[in-house]
Amino acid sequence: MYEMKPEYMTGIALIDEEHKKLFELADQLYEILNNEFIPDKYDYIVEVIDGLKEYAKKHFKDEEDYMVSINYKRLFSQKIEHQEFLGKMEGFDLEAIDEDQKQSCLELLNYVSDWLVNHILGSDILIGK
Ligand SMILES: [Fe+2]
Repeated sequence: MYEMKPEYMTGIALIDEEHKKLFELADQLYEILNNEFIPDKYDYIVEVIDGLKEYAKKHFKDEEDYMVSINYKRLFSQKIEHQEFLGKMEGFDLEAIDEDQKQSCLELLNYVSDWLVNHILGSDILIGK
């Protein structure tokens, strides 16, 4: 459902590969949300949030290192956008997620997928140009 598409490709192999993995994490949320055999979704949601935190940190570092290596002009605004994503992942109220798991999972999924698509199409795609 949530996956890498041709229009998201920057042409930089490492970055595209890592974006693909981030979409896979978003897709895990979609699966959790729609899996009726997982009535208690809390542990699964927290696991994906942890995965997103960890993997996004690695990815942003790789991407920023690449931008430094090519002397990329928009590094600063990229860093701000990356920080915003990590801040969101760090700032979740886990109790509130537990209390309303389906709604929280849906909101998280919407945030992650919207952020990824907007950031890739609005910013990352320019790195390859
Ligand atoms: Fe980026």
